[in-house]
Amino acid sequence: MAKKLDICLSPAQLSLFDLKGKVVVIIDVLRATSTINAALANSVKEVIPVSTIEEGLEYKTKGYIVGAERGGKKYEGFSYGNSPYEYMTEEVKGKSVVLTTSNGTRALKMSQAADEIITASFLNVNAVIKYLKNQAKDIILFCSGWKDRFSLEDTMCAGSIAQGLADSTTTNADSTFAAIHLYTSHANNLFEALQKSAHFHRLSHNGMLKDIEYCVKENTYDSIPVWNGKALTLMP
Ligand code: MLT
Repeated sequence: MAKKLDICLSPAQLSLFDLKGKVVVIIDVLRATSTINAALANSVKEVIPVSTIEEGLEYKTKGYIVGAERGGKKYEGFSYGNSPYEYMTEEVKGKSVVLTTSNGTRALKMSQAADEIITASFLNVNAVIKYLKNQAKDIILFCSGWKDRFSLEDTMCAGSIAQGLADSTTTNADSTFAAIHLYTSHANNLFEALQKSAHFHRLSHNGMLKDIEYCVKENTYDSIPVWNGKALTLMP
């Protein structure tokens, strides 16, 4: 029987879904899941997501590399934020990185009841589609959004994955049809489409246009970050 696919458009709706036995795909295009994939693909050993600034500070006192972002900006008192470029340096190679962001790491921590958790962004969308096609669990694509609000970029990314899985899944959710339509209407120029996104404006206003340009480069990586119960590492 074909796998079921659902799209959760916001953390505020997650309670409507039963995660047991399912694979949950965390999506936070700008920028958490893009940054996590870039970090792991550039030899960061693991990414340990934490929910609060306080947890981040605790890890910092223990000597960990800690990235903290709130409101789209690096959090005061931390050396690292949530730009993919911060985690491509020699300094972080082979290291454990702790990360706390406004939405993406929160979504991941909310999904612990799932059988399996992986992360997706435009950077690894084909690898995620290929993996999900060849596994048997029902699928929930979880858009991290912005403070429980709908996110254009996360939903477009979910639409891209849902379209790639259309011949191997069933769905009766309007959110899936809407996400696919949103993606297919803009597939040829994601960057231009994203200029309607609130987070695009937030980041570009903060001087992070380079990050946005990086996060829309589809299929930069063929790797998939997967949750092992303590951290995210690259699927073997
Ligand atoms: C998020 O967690 O919502 C984002 O990653 C925020 C950001 O870093 O721009």
